[in-house]
Amino acid sequence: MHARITTLPGDGIGPEVVAEGVKVLKAVAQKWGHTFEFTECLVGGIAIDETGSPLPEATLTACRAADAVLLGAVGGPKWSDPRAAVRPEQGLLGLRGSLGLFANIRPVKVYPALVAASTLKSEIVSGVDMVIVRELTGGLYFGKPQGRQDTAAGRAAVDTLYYTEGEIGRLMRVAFDLARARRKKVTSVDKANVLASSRLWREVAHEVAAEYPDVEIEDVLVDACAMYLVRRPADYDVIATENMFGDILSDEAAMLAGSMGMLPSASLGAQIRRASENPSGLRFGLYEPIHGSAPDIAGRGVANPLAAILSCAMLLRWSLGLAAEAVAVEQAVEATLEAGYRCRDIMTAGGRPVGTAEMGDQVVTYL
Ligand code: IPM
Ligand code: MG
Repeated sequence: MHARITTLPGDGIGPEVVAEGVKVLKAVAQKWGHTFEFTECLVGGIAIDETGSPLPEATLTACRAADAVLLGAVGGPKWSDPRAAVRPEQGLLGLRGSLGLFANIRPVKVYPALVAASTLKSEIVSGVDMVIVRELTGGLYFGKPQGRQDTAAGRAAVDTLYYTEGEIGRLMRVAFDLARARRKKVTSVDKANVLASSRLWREVAHEVAAEYPDVEIEDVLVDACAMYLVRRPADYDVIATENMFGDILSDEAAMLAGSMGMLPSASLGAQIRRASENPSGLRFGLYEPIHGSAPDIAGRGVANPLAAILSCAMLLRWSLGLAAEAVAVEQAVEATLEAGYRCRDIMTAGGRPVGTAEMGDQVVTYL
């Protein structure tokens, strides 16, 4: 197959981990006889420095022309003045909004080899295998009005939590479709005891659930969910929730897996445009590790590239329809861990310490 992949390395450790992802994708292309064409573009703080905008028009155009996008991370102390009008994160939100990437899939899987790397007890994290499906283009992140006001009471600021039934319904369908191929359980997370938007969320979630009689649905309030995630995380299969709840819960869930450096994500849009060319229902998507730019370790070659590499596996599966190749990458990561290779963030007793590039090399070897 011939595929076009736009890479957006971004800031901090972004370029280092994306390089390892590309290394693995090139190895996949060689082994299975595909051609992947890579185009690198600017996003985030580096894009602000070079063009004045966190999301230059050329980047958006290159993403639209691609089959999939691989992103590193955006942000850093250089651009984090809260009063700044232009911020790196606007690049990421602009991409999600402009490309219609409404469903963020964040699998949290605890690899047996890494049970000891978690800050939680092994009996709690063993067997964890869940997917958080986070709504990504609505809610507090996109609601209007948003901004600061000068009022008689002094400075004020507003964010708006707004959802339409259409936005909730399409997100829930992604969650139920995923659950159908897994353990057939969806946990819908809301704050329906307080928020009107959550009461609509719950109502629509149950309407969609009626279309999936073979899948169980449960409702959990977000504060309780935060607690259960560290109490009995192995009970969860698919968690579906709104934008900001998902942002917070997915960082919490990352700790089950030992490190943010292990967690990939896919941000998916609607089914790819031309149904005739796309009988298998592939989706355009943006793939990124869920960790941030980690400015404290940037440029030192120590960042864990496995989240970026696992994001490439998701890219192969969801946007290119290359399921066997995706499984092979995931198995190569597992084999690398089994063999004891560890970046600093996931070091366990007796581990073999490696840096970013060496970790990528090991995955290619096992592939
Ligand atoms: C994430 C990140 C982003 C978000 C930031 C960088 C805007 O935390 O992808 O989870 O909040 O969505
Ligand atoms: Mg986050």
